Amino acid sequence: MSSKNVIEVKGVNRIFPVPGGEFQALTDINVEIPEGNLAILKGRSGSGKTTLMNIIGTLDKPTSGIVKIDGKEIGDMSDIARENLRRRDMGFVFQAVSLIPTMNAFQNVEFSMRLAGIKAGRERDKRVEECLKLVGLGNRMHHMPAEMSGGEQQRVAIARAIAHRPKIILADEPTAELDSAMAAQVTALFKEMSRREQITVLMTTHDVGLMDAGDMVIELESGMQVHREEE
Ligand SMILES: Nc1ncnc2c1ncn2[C@@H]1O[C@H](COP(=O)(O)OP(=O)(O)O)[C@@H](O)[C@H]1O
Ligand SMILES: [Mg+2]
Repeated sequence: MSSKNVIEVKGVNRIFPVPGGEFQALTDINVEIPEGNLAILKGRSGSGKTTLMNIIGTLDKPTSGIVKIDGKEIGDMSDIARENLRRRDMGFVFQAVSLIPTMNAFQNVEFSMRLAGIKAGRERDKRVEECLKLVGLGNRMHHMPAEMSGGEQQRVAIARAIAHRPKIILADEPTAELDSAMAAQVTALFKEMSRREQITVLMTTHDVGLMDAGDMVIELESGMQVHREEE
């Protein structure tokens, strides 16, 4: 077992300017997630989960504090280096499904592999199929997003997030639109990915039924970390 921390967050604060002042969305967040772990980020709506995910995903910058991905401090990187990191080493699942509406399921997954620099060919096609089958959509590969339910679209988004074998998957409430059986299945899939391919997964959820799947749970309350004694 490797104990390398793939995600490190140290003393992160995020303050948003708001009309008439500022709003502190995150206060002194410290997180270390070892390689191959499935970490669950929990907290009620407005507690700062998405803000933290966006900072770890290099989509937003902290007001202060540092974030290291795979040992590299992202604040020191150029915009291009950050973009490459996102495309090659990260897979995102957003709360609102963000498929490209003019591409079918297969093409949506293929597109993110193309952005990750994976060359066209049989191997890539096979990987797209494999990922869509993993999420139970082997029979929907050529459906357009508009021809699928919300849950099916979310599963395409998950296939897209894992296809290029990223080091990290950041999934923001990926199960919110799924029924409980599919939510458990998706969580189990993330766990399997973390075990089988040493992918580090950080997912947010408030579904208590899914907490047990996590190797670790990080809890936020009003932008602050909650440290609980082991029960
Ligand atoms: N760009 C922004 N400007 C001002 N306030 C924001 C911004 N983004 C988030 N917030 C506030 O920060 C808090 C945390 O939001 P968020 O991270 O989305 O919470 P969660 O994902 O846990 O529901 C909320 O009170 C939200 O209104
Ligand atoms: Mg959120």
